[in-house]
Amino acid sequence: MFPRKVGDAWEIQAPAKLNLCLEVLGRRDDGFHSLQTLMVPVRVYDQLRYRSAPARELELRVRNLLPQPQAANLLGSNDNNLILRAARMLGTKAEILPKGTFELIKRIPIQAGMGGGSSDAAAALLLMNKAWNLNYPLKQLAPLAAELGSDVPFFLGHGAAVCRGRGELIEPIDRLPKMHFVVAKPPQGSSTAEVFGCLPSTDQSITARESLANRSLHHLVQSLQLGTVAQAGRWMTNRLEDGAAQLAPWLTRLRELFAGIGCLAHFMTGSGSAYVGVMRSAHHARHTAQRLRNLKTENGFEVGHVFATSSC
Ligand code: C5P
Repeated sequence: MFPRKVGDAWEIQAPAKLNLCLEVLGRRDDGFHSLQTLMVPVRVYDQLRYRSAPARELELRVRNLLPQPQAANLLGSNDNNLILRAARMLGTKAEILPKGTFELIKRIPIQAGMGGGSSDAAAALLLMNKAWNLNYPLKQLAPLAAELGSDVPFFLGHGAAVCRGRGELIEPIDRLPKMHFVVAKPPQGSSTAEVFGCLPSTDQSITARESLANRSLHHLVQSLQLGTVAQAGRWMTNRLEDGAAQLAPWLTRLRELFAGIGCLAHFMTGSGSAYVGVMRSAHHARHTAQRLRNLKTENGFEVGHVFATSSC
């Protein structure tokens, strides 16, 4: 994500992410959960543009390209929208009163577990850092990002990473192969807080969980770095999936559906509701997405918005 000048505006592309594995290590005293997850940015982008206008209150205009008609409402009002909060937060740090207009072209599905809101927030920090000529290094932006949301710090970087803590401790991972995915985002969204609230209790200690999680993460990263994506698929799991399946019955249907379409692996991303299949090639991903779109499903079950994408 690099801001660039377009006429009198600044513009940035904000990618989505997928969680290739997600383990919950335990609940923390602050109510959040300790995580270990491998996240990869993927080629689905929101576009954020900022134009300074000293006479105008800071505002956000959204152009929704999603098949979710209620997208604009889900983005939050002026006070709690993450883009405006990010700009105001950076403004406070820099002693600048933010004025002007943001335009957001929305392509990343909302309430999908694909990090759209977090990516937009990180994009706003990077954009304003440039537009206001602040040139703060990433380590000064990172605490603001972490305050805005658990996934926001990941999007300040430019590649795959293992994220730990609440999600804000980032270890970049390089040499991952290009991966191809098919994603199904059902009409129902998913609330991150509710999904975390459905985690089954466990007798395992945090240390035992950590050691198991480290082992499978090691296998996952190593298999990917060797280019053996099919083998890596064995280690692609999401601890939040069973809880999410209690809240949303469609998840079990998606699991069954994806088990029959020749994926190398399939899983829910983040806290859902998007479900992901890892495919052999870009062609295979596109072809499978088309097949899923044409599928006639029963009993009111809708696969929803289906598309192919790949890692950045
Ligand atoms: O940080 P973020 O706003 O994305 O978190 C949304 C909600 O998800 C939190 O309020 C919390 O209930 C849950 N969460 C959690 N542990 C995390 C991240 C999120 O319990 N590591």
